[in-house]
Amino acid sequence: MVVSDEQLASEAGVEILKKGGNAVDAAVAVAFALAVVDPQAGNIGGGGFMLVRLADGRAAFVDYREEAPKHASRNMYLRSDGTLDAEGSTVGYRSVAVPGTVAGLELALKTYGTKKLAEVMAPAIRLAEQGFPVSEKLAASLRDSQPTLQRFSMSRRVFLKDGAPYQPGDIFRQPKLAATLRRIARYRSAEFYRGQTAHKLADEMARAGGLITLADLGAYKAKIREPLRASYDVNGSHWEMITSPPPSSGGIAAIEALNILAPIELKDWQDAQSVHWVVEAMRRVFADRAAYLADADFAHVPVKGLTDPRYAGELRATIHPRLASSSKQIGAGNPAPFDSVEGSPATSSLEPRGAAAPSFREGNHTTHFSVVDAAGNSVANTYTLNDSYGSGVTTTTGFLLNDEMDDFTVQPGHPNMFDLVQSDANAIGPGKRPLSSMMPTILLRDGKLSFVTGSPGGPGIISATLLSILNWMRLGMDAQAAINAPRFHQQWLPDVLYVETTFSQATARELEQRGYRITERDWIGNIEAIAIDPKTGERLGAADPRRQGAAVGY
Ligand code: DON
Repeated sequence: MVVSDEQLASEAGVEILKKGGNAVDAAVAVAFALAVVDPQAGNIGGGGFMLVRLADGRAAFVDYREEAPKHASRNMYLRSDGTLDAEGSTVGYRSVAVPGTVAGLELALKTYGTKKLAEVMAPAIRLAEQGFPVSEKLAASLRDSQPTLQRFSMSRRVFLKDGAPYQPGDIFRQPKLAATLRRIARYRSAEFYRGQTAHKLADEMARAGGLITLADLGAYKAKIREPLRASYDVNGSHWEMITSPPPSSGGIAAIEALNILAPIELKDWQDAQSVHWVVEAMRRVFADRAAYLADADFAHVPVKGLTDPRYAGELRATIHPRLASSSKQIGAGNPAPFDSVEGSPATSSLEPRGAAAPSFREGNHTTHFSVVDAAGNSVANTYTLNDSYGSGVTTTTGFLLNDEMDDFTVQPGHPNMFDLVQSDANAIGPGKRPLSSMMPTILLRDGKLSFVTGSPGGPGIISATLLSILNWMRLGMDAQAAINAPRFHQQWLPDVLYVETTFSQATARELEQRGYRITERDWIGNIEAIAIDPKTGERLGAADPRRQGAAVGY
């Protein structure tokens, strides 16, 4: 079973499974295919995380997050008067961090796959070379991103048809990307990081004022990390969650929230009392995200303390049984977890979102997919260009570059494009990976594979993925209902409860009476999950209807 945002990409995965590939082979095929058919988020010029859990019980987290180039520095986006050049970290060459996708996919394939890179890349190469019909969804997203794409000559050439937006049904061919994919299939990641692709990218960066050099590309390494694990006993079953460690904030946040909620009765999301508890858990874990979380290879991250059930108990005790807390009163960092260092949290003087700050961007700029093969190997993968179509820059070799630099704390005390305030621990530093919310996650029930999940959505990733887990593990919803259920999101700052438009109006009014300020959003997250039927072992693909995801099995 393969579930992704795009039918053609899910089919690419199934094509590899049918040829005897395992879940990792299929996942790599899906990722390369998404780079062709879902260019706003699928990528080879970005980065992400792949969580692998093999049927024999081994699990690994492939961290292919982008990295700051060597010449990056903490104040690189501040003007001489200290104000933020907001576009610097979000559009154009200077916003680009060293891409990790090609290294990550190659590492995953080499370590856990069974097939050759050229074989799993074949569907992507075919889609780029022969083209595919533009969907309504792709046409709309290309149209929405015109203002940014128009600014860069290769983006105009690739993503416009003779200067005008592609229409649904037009055939979209990407010959330059196809040629690059062919070179990667032949010479592997060495081509991307040291070969012709790397040389062209470094030349272009030097010409256009970007920071990435050949040395940066040559030094990039994907890393295999230990995933985080937590366990919960729910309704007579023992659940184990395998999730994302730093530089993701998502795994820590989800464990912390599930720990807070462990003894709390949850009914459903029409029950204001249940929503209240989840929202207050979200508020507190996002306050900790703001205070402590960063790339743990560069900063001390108190993972043990934050994920300790006793710490969750302390946080739970600060939640009023009925009324909304105030984010201002909670402040960054809640009570300090035991392994935090003296002096943190670093975010002591927070400023409210200024009028000049960019507002939250909705869109589908990240993409998650899930794969489970016949043997029970599973993959949860989330990867991104950050913003829709990343930095807006398409390289001369035909692929879009990320603007992941904006996930760093570009200006301490000020929110980023997702309204997230982050700490000094996440300041820009050479070779450092920016803090992410992406959190591919796998659940086991009584030792057996049960749920594979993850989402796009900036900070909404954490809330959407957490809710999918609560829906499946705690509320016992069926797989599709767990994905369809209305979502809500609270990220500490701003002190707003976001609810999807499908959220119960009556419940929203009741929450307002408890002190919540509510704002509606069209969608929060976009989950592409696979659940395993505990009775039959059947793989239940649950694609998100919010963005017309596609579950394909055989
Ligand atoms: O890594 C992160 O958390 C962000 N770069 C993800 C961006 C995102 O999900 C935008 N999506 N809709």
